[in-house]
Amino acid sequence: MKPLIAPSILSADFAHLADEAKAVAGADWLHVDVMDNHFVPNLTLGLPIVQSLRKATDIPLDCHLMIEDPDRWAVGYAEAGAYNVTVHAEAVADPIAMAANIRAAGAKAGLSLKPGTALDDWVDVLRHYDTLLIMTVEPGFGGQAFMADMMPKVRRARNLVDTGHLTVLVEVDGGINAETIEQAAEAGADCFVAGSAVYSAEDPGAAVAALRATAAAHRPGSG
Ligand code: DX5
Ligand code: ZN
Repeated sequence: MKPLIAPSILSADFAHLADEAKAVAGADWLHVDVMDNHFVPNLTLGLPIVQSLRKATDIPLDCHLMIEDPDRWAVGYAEAGAYNVTVHAEAVADPIAMAANIRAAGAKAGLSLKPGTALDDWVDVLRHYDTLLIMTVEPGFGGQAFMADMMPKVRRARNLVDTGHLTVLVEVDGGINAETIEQAAEAGADCFVAGSAVYSAEDPGAAVAALRATAAAHRPGSG
């Protein structure tokens, strides 16, 4: 599988989201950061914008819910046509039911771990999920520095998948740019979220292609 690149619209111009999606037409997923001012300090966007965005682009939407009560809201994002709906392990009350409900509504189910949350505590739950989003910053804001000390967690996830213990796709989010993506790819991530690195580039589409090429060149076993 080739590396997947998911530009985060958190760093895009919110007044022109349809155009900002077009600017990254070659992206694999479009990452949508939903923040509720409770689970994280920041406030971004919610369901009505995802419903509109779904009509404005064919890029699969990767909705990352940084919200306090995902058990109540996540299924709505799946029903709105999100390709993948990710909830936070630290916020979800019934993670196994959550995954089943998201899948029943037609989306892939993702589980995200904050930097301080241990992967090994969630392995059994992750058997019910399609994607694992490993945060490489504290969730809440774009433009933060990549936490290289999360790479053992990514390597452990890669190992659990490669040894058949999990079937999740391993996604990393936070501080990914042309340099840090090398480490994340070497650690074995499959999918790379990048906000500021894509949308602050002169040509966001070219930035996506360049990130993908760098990730491919640094995958385990690529050279
Ligand atoms: C942070 C968000 C990220 C953010 C990444 O809480 O979950 O998706 O957009 O932005 P960069 O790539 O700028 O760190
Ligand atoms: Zn995110």
